[in-house]
Amino acid sequence: MNKKSVDKAMLFFSGLWSRMKENSDYFENIKITLRSGTREYFARFTYERGEIYRDYLGERKKCSDYNSLPEILREYDSALISYNERGTEILIEADDKNVRMKNREKQTEPARLSTVKSGREYLLSPGKAAPLLRELGILAENGKIKNDKVRKYNQIDYFLELADGILKDVTPDRELLVLDCACGKSYLSFAMNCYFTEVKRRKCRFIGVDVSPEVIKASERTAKNLNYKNMTFVCSDLAEYMPHTPPDLVISLHACDTLTDMALAFGIRSRASAVMSVPCCHKDILKQYSYEPFSMVTKHGILKARLADTLTDALRAAYLEASGYEVSLIEYISPLETPKNIMIRAVYTGKRSEEAAQNYKALKEMIHVSPAIEKFGKKIQERGL
Ligand SMILES: C[S@@+](CC[C@H](N)C(=O)[O-])C[C@H]1O[C@@H](n2cnc3c(N)ncnc32)[C@H](O)[C@@H]1O
Repeated sequence: MNKKSVDKAMLFFSGLWSRMKENSDYFENIKITLRSGTREYFARFTYERGEIYRDYLGERKKCSDYNSLPEILREYDSALISYNERGTEILIEADDKNVRMKNREKQTEPARLSTVKSGREYLLSPGKAAPLLRELGILAENGKIKNDKVRKYNQIDYFLELADGILKDVTPDRELLVLDCACGKSYLSFAMNCYFTEVKRRKCRFIGVDVSPEVIKASERTAKNLNYKNMTFVCSDLAEYMPHTPPDLVISLHACDTLTDMALAFGIRSRASAVMSVPCCHKDILKQYSYEPFSMVTKHGILKARLADTLTDALRAAYLEASGYEVSLIEYISPLETPKNIMIRAVYTGKRSEEAAQNYKALKEMIHVSPAIEKFGKKIQERGL
C-alpha cells in the first residue's frame, strides 16, 4: 500500500488504539485481514490483564504500541481492520485508492434462530445475544430456546423492557452502576449487562451481592466465560453490605421476603436514580398484621396471605413516595409465567410526598405493623451510607 493510504489508515488506527485503552473492560480484539493479490494473511491485537499482544504470522508478541503496523501495512495491497468492542465493530478499509472508516451493526447469530412463538419481539434475541443465552443455558446448541427455559427467558426479557424505559432517567456522568441485590446466579444482571452494553451501548458496571458462596462462584465463572469484565460479585449478607460507590440503579428479582425491603432501602439511602424490584414471598407483614374490621377476611388463611402481599407492597410504595420517588406497581409479566409478577418501579424525583408519609404512618398504625423497609432504612442511615 502506498504511503498516503498507510498514513491515513494509521491516523484512524491511532484513535482506535486510544479507545481500546479507555474501554479496556469492553474491548474484545482488533483483527486485521491483509491481502496480497488473492492471498490473505491475518494479524490480531488482544488485551489481556493490562497487556497488549500482537499475533502475526504465527508469532505472538507483547507490544506497548503499534509502531510496527505501518511497516506491515506497506507490504500488502489492502487491509481490512476490524476493531471489536462489546456491541460495536468499527472497520477501516484501506487500499491504494481509498481509506474509509465505518461502523458495522453487530449480529452474533442470524435472528432467524429465535424460535419463541409468542409474537413478541425479544430485546435480547438470539441474533443479538447468542453467546450469553448459551452460557446461561437458555439457548440450545441447535439455536432454539430450551422449552424449560422459556419462562425464565420471558421474565428476564420483560424486565429488560421496563429497564429500557427507565434508562433515560438514569444518567450519571460516569459509568452506570447497577446493584443486583440477592443476585443468585445473576441471570438478570448478565442479561442487563449484555443489553445495556451491547444493544444500548451504555457504559455500565454491575455489582451482584448474595449470601451464598456457591452462587457467587457460579456468577464469577459465568462472567469469566463471557469475558464480561465490568462485573463484580460480593458474597455477603445484604444486611451487612455497604457499596463503596452509591448505585444508580438498584435491581432485585425475587429477593425473598424482607430482602426486597433491604434492596428498596438501599435504593432510597443511596438516592439511586431508579429502583426496580420484583418481590418474592411476603411473610413479614403476614406474621404481624391484624385488623379487626376485616376479621371475616383474615380468618381465611389464603385471603389473609393475599391481603398481606397487597399491604406489604402498598406500604413499600408509600414509603418510597415519602422518600422522594415516583412509584408505579406493575404486573410486569403474565401470572401464567410466574405468580410473583408484580414489579415495584421507582424513579427518584426528589419530591417527598407528605401525603404518602401520612398514609404510610396511618396504615402501619391501623394494622399494627413495623415494616422492614423502615427498619432497614434507619439501619443503613446509622451506618452513614
Ligand atoms: C430466589 S433467589 C433469587 C435469585 C436471583 N435474583 C434470581 O432471580 O434468579 C434468592 C437469593 O437470595 C439469596 N439470599 C438469601 N438471603 C440473603 C441475604 N441475607 N443476603 C444476600 N442474599 C441472600 C439466596 O442465596 C438466593 O440466591
